[in-house]
Amino acid sequence: MKVIAVINQKGGEAKTTTVRNLSYIFSQNNKKVLTIDMDAQGNLTTNSGILKREVNTIVDVFTGSKNINDVIINVHKNLDHIPNNMEMSDFSLFLEKSAGWTKLLKDYIKTIKNDYDYIFIDCPPALDFCTYNSLGAADEVIITLQAEENSVEGISDLIRSINMIRERDNENLNVLGIAITKFKKSTNLQNQFYNLLKNHFGDLVFETVIRDNIKIAEANYNHKSVVQFDKNSNGAKDYIALSIEILNRI
Ligand SMILES: Nc1ncnc2c1ncn2[C@@H]1O[C@H](COP(=O)(O)OP(=O)(O)OP(=O)(O)O)[C@@H](O)[C@H]1O
Ligand SMILES: [Mg+2]
Repeated sequence: MKVIAVINQKGGEAKTTTVRNLSYIFSQNNKKVLTIDMDAQGNLTTNSGILKREVNTIVDVFTGSKNINDVIINVHKNLDHIPNNMEMSDFSLFLEKSAGWTKLLKDYIKTIKNDYDYIFIDCPPALDFCTYNSLGAADEVIITLQAEENSVEGISDLIRSINMIRERDNENLNVLGIAITKFKKSTNLQNQFYNLLKNHFGDLVFETVIRDNIKIAEANYNHKSVVQFDKNSNGAKDYIALSIEILNRI
C-alpha cells in the first residue's frame, strides 16, 4: 500500500484534478483506491459527486466523533472517498497546538491500510495543519505545478517543508516527481519555464506534461474523470500517460 500526497501551497495548480484523475485511472486498473480530501474547500468531494454538506467528513475523525471507517464513502467500484467541508478551517488552528499534531492522519490511516493498494491525499493551497498532516502520512509526494513564474517561485518553500517533515516525523517520505499541469505548448514563456524546471530538477520532472485542455475542466464540472468524460481527449491521454509513469517510478 502506498500513500501519495498531491501538494502545492499555491492555489489552482491542478492538485484536485490530478488526484481525481489518477485515482480514477488506478481504480480502473483493478487497484483498490481511497482518496482523502484534506482541503476544507471540499473540491475533490464535490468533483467526486458527493454533496459535502450532507456527509460526515475527515474533520469528524480529527475531533474524535467518528471512526475513520464511518466516514468512507464508495464512489464506484474500487474507489472510495473521505470527504471534507468548511469545518476543517477553524478546527486545524486548535489542533496545531497539540503534541504530535503532524502524525494524526498517519495514525488514522494505519487502521485501514490493508483495505487499499493506493491512498491519494488532496492537499489544500497552504503549508498548514492539513498539508503537514498529509506529508506526515505520505510515502510519496507529487508536486503539481504550472510552468509560470509565480508558480515556480514557491517551489523552494515547498521543498523546505517536505524536508522538514522528513527530518521530523517521516524519514521515508519521497518526492516522486513534479507534474507540470495546464501546459500551453504554444506559449514561449511556458516553454521557457518548462526548460528552467527541467534544467534545475532534471528527471524529477515527469516526462508527461498535462496540457491545458478544456475537457479536463468540463469533466470536473460534470463530476467525472476526464477519462470517463472524453477518453479521446488530450486530457485523458495525458493523465493515462502520467499514471503509467507514476507506476513505473513506484
Ligand atoms: N489541464 C487542465 N486544463 C484545463 N483546465 C484545468 C486543467 N487542470 C485543472 N484545470 C482547471 O483549473 C482549475 C484549478 O484546478 P484544481 O482545482 O484541480 O487546482 P487545485 O490546485 O486543486 O486548486 P486549489 O489550490 O484551489 O485546491 C479548475 O477549474 C480545473 O478544472
Ligand atoms: Mg484543490
